[in-house]
Formats: sequence, structure tokens, C-alpha cells
Amino acid sequence: MRRTKLTFLLPLLITGLGLKSFGQSTASITITNDSKDTISRHIYGQFAEHLGRGIYGGFWVDPSLPVKKQDRIRLDVVAALKKIKIPTLRWPGGCFADEYHWRDGIGDRSQRPKMINTNWGGVVEDNSFGTHEFLELCKLLECEPYVSGNVGSGTVQEMSNWVEYLNFDGQSPLTALRTKNGHPKPFNVRFWGVGNESWGCGGSMTAEHYSDEYRRYATFAKDYNNARLKKIACGPSDQDYNWTETCMKNIGNRMWGLSLHYYTIPTGNWGNKGAATGFGEKEYFNTMKNTLFMEELVTKHSAIMDKYDPNKKVALVVDEWGIWTNVEPGTNPGFLFQQNSLRDALIAGTNLNIFNNHCDRVKMAALAQCINVLQALIITDKEKMLLTPTYYVFDMYKVHQNAQYLPIKLNTPDYEFEGKKLPAVNVSASKDAAGKIHITLVNLDAKKDIQVNTELKGMNWKNVTGQILTSANVADINTFEKPNTLIIKGFNGAHNNEGKLALKVPAKSIVALELY
Ligand code: AHR
Repeated sequence: MRRTKLTFLLPLLITGLGLKSFGQSTASITITNDSKDTISRHIYGQFAEHLGRGIYGGFWVDPSLPVKKQDRIRLDVVAALKKIKIPTLRWPGGCFADEYHWRDGIGDRSQRPKMINTNWGGVVEDNSFGTHEFLELCKLLECEPYVSGNVGSGTVQEMSNWVEYLNFDGQSPLTALRTKNGHPKPFNVRFWGVGNESWGCGGSMTAEHYSDEYRRYATFAKDYNNARLKKIACGPSDQDYNWTETCMKNIGNRMWGLSLHYYTIPTGNWGNKGAATGFGEKEYFNTMKNTLFMEELVTKHSAIMDKYDPNKKVALVVDEWGIWTNVEPGTNPGFLFQQNSLRDALIAGTNLNIFNNHCDRVKMAALAQCINVLQALIITDKEKMLLTPTYYVFDMYKVHQNAQYLPIKLNTPDYEFEGKKLPAVNVSASKDAAGKIHITLVNLDAKKDIQVNTELKGMNWKNVTGQILTSANVADINTFEKPNTLIIKGFNGAHNNEGKLALKVPAKSIVALELY
């Protein structure tokens, strides 16, 4: 929408008008205090699918593994995620959700049926991690569960029963079963996905067919006391604007949110996505171009939603995003395991800035995926645990959660590579409950530092402190042997220059500032 268009597209517009005087490396930012929008904490949500080592070997480990556990839940992982305040965890998929039958995952574990995980490597799913285990994990993480129901291969009754099992606080055969399984009280799950990628792995439906199915499934997914469902419809992939149009027309305010899935593919080619490590500047530049496409997607899908929902009651829920590369050589192609570099961190910082700047419509998001899968926050290997560069970005940005959004106008120089250009700087800002101002800046330019001059209109502040995440090379990674190549460091390069904020944002870095 208007302000975010300005944030990202102004440099391009100015270039187009022939007014560009930026051969320089100076950006200018104006931040105002005139928005009532809040940056929902749920923008910082995560996704955990039964895929590869995401659940099994990630959150849920073998009883013999020598790490601290509650039941089979790994507590070092829980502690790390609590530190960054993850607000929401989406489960059980993904494509897996539309093959998942919840009754297989309750009751005596030794009696639970085994099945094939057809989407992800054809491995055996033993159902040892099911509804109760997931909700116990969410309790430990102090986050809200977001459950994706099965539309593709399930039934209306199956979904309706699952909601009753989770949320009903009265007498029924399902609540008796829940009590028998150790949980007399309802779980009060609010976030409810009605299918996943129903245009693809979730059932290959047309938008018209899906929106009819949504209405049927949603009718029987009931609201119980203390758990009014926030139903999230399967939304478009990428630039499938027709899907958004059809769902808005046919479902409208019967949904709390409409999802959007978009992955950053370095090469733009699903057949050979590019490597997670060891890439050069050309591939880095293309990756960033592809990740910035999120701005256009959010803007255009939001514009369609505005037509049907001008008061912005329906949320855009970007519940799968992140970089998707080729798997690490020698690993199971169905497990989607990839390393995580400074490039991933720059992608995370950029996408989170985009979501913050669209917080009037984007009320929720989920990075794909939390542990050991795609753009993970955490990588584990048996008892070892490693925090990725992406993890540190979520740590730096957590200050924006539930803070007041501060609108921004940005003039940025371009990052130029082999005659192609993209906006070098992106930024978002918020004011927290204590009145502190937080600004997160990303400089995508691989080589140039950028001087940023910022005016904060109508805001009082005297002091500034900062943090930075960067490294010598955009392809640098953390490893079990060298876990601290990319960690958050103090940044003291920002100054109060007669009421204006002045700083130089180093090349290929993410900087978070606190003004007070
Ligand atoms: O995140 C991996 C997969 O990507 C999910 O299962 C699916 O929803 C998407 O296609």
C-alpha cells in the first residue's frame, strides 16, 4: 500500500523519472508517529512440519539422546526459542497436514498406527508426536498453537471432531476421550488452518471449488467457550491473484485470515534452486531480487483484499516464507535440509521489514521452518545444537512484537551488480509500550557501506544504542565447529546529530537501533 510502496519503490520511481542523483551511498529516512497500527507479534511466527528432522530428531528426540528433555521434547531447543519469544507455532504441515488423521496421534503411543509420510521421503511416521505432544511443546515454548486441519484427504466430521476434542469444555464422548488421554481441560486452540496449499499438495483444487469446501468445513469447525476460532483459509501461492480474488469474493469475512506462500528461490528455478553455501555475488544478487518480490506480492494481494474488505478485517497470513535452496549434498532430498548463511539473515531481516511495514494487513506469518528444515532458526545434530544467522535476526527484531508501527519514507541508493539494480536499504520502525523507538535496517549491498540520515518527526529521544549482525562474506555460515562466526555484536556507529539520527550501515549487514 501507499507507505510501503514508498518505502521500497521510491528509488525506482525516482530513477524512472530521471531525477536520480544517487551515485552516492547515502540514504535518507523520515519516520513519523502518525499511525495507530500495531505490529502483531504473530508476524514472528514459526512453522514445524512432520518433515525431515523438523519434528523427529528436532523437537522430539529419541529417549536415549543425552540432552535435557521433558518427555521427549528437547529443552535446549525450547530455551533458545523462548529467548526470541516465538509467538506462534504452525503444525502439523504443510503438505503433511492434508494426509494427517489426528486420531492416529492420540492415546497410548505403543498402540498408535504407523503410516508413510508420502510427501517427505516416504519415511515411516510412527505418530509418537501428536496432538497432546504438540500442545505440550507450545506450553513449554509459551507460544500459541496454530493447527492446520486436513481438507485434502480428511472429512468435515474429522475436522469438526478435532476442534471439539481440543476446545469443548463440556461432556461428550470426545471430551471423555481427551480426559482419558490425560487432559480434562480444553486446550483452547484459536488459530485454525482450513487446509494447506489446496491448489497443490492439499487437493489440486480450483479456487472456486476450494472456497466452497472452505465454507462447508468452516461451518462445522465450531467456536467453543474461550476459543473463538481464527480460521485461516488456504490462500494463493506467489502471484496467483485470481485465487485471492475468488476467496475474497466467495469466503469474505467467514475467514479470519487468508494465507500466502512465497519462497525465495536463489536461481528462480525449482529444478536447480542453487546451493545454500559457497555461492558468489551474482547468485546473492539474484536471491535478493527474488526475496524483494515479497513486497510486490504483499502489496498486490493486499490491494485485492482492500476491494472486498476495506476495513482490513481479514488478515493476510504469510504462513510459509523463507529461502529454499538445494539440499545439502549427501542428505535425503525429501528432508529439505539446508545450511543457513548471512544471506539467509539478510533475507529474514528484509522480509520482516516488509511485513512490519504492511502490518495493517499482514497480521501473521510463519518462517519455513523452525528446526533442521529449509531456512531454519536452529540446526541440530544428535545432542549438538547450533543457532543460525536467521535465529539472530529474530532475536534482534523481537522488540517490534506488538509495538506501535511507525510509518517510514525512505530514499535509498541502489545496489548495482552487472548493470542490474535493487534498492540497497530497507527498514522498519516501531515504538514499544515504554516509549522506546526501535529501528531495524538492512543494507543488502555486498560491498558498499551506506550513510543513513534519519529524521524522526514529533518524537523525543536523546540516546541510541545498537546491535549488528554481519560477517566478511555473504556466504559465511555458523557450524558446530565454529558456531560464533555470525552472532549479534554491539553497534556504536549511530549518533544523535542535533536531533537527527546519523549512522553508517556497513555493507551486507542488519542493524537494530534503540532510541530513548
Ligand atoms: O515447507 C515445505 C512445503 O512447502 C510445505 O509442506 C508446503 O506447504 C509447501 O509447498
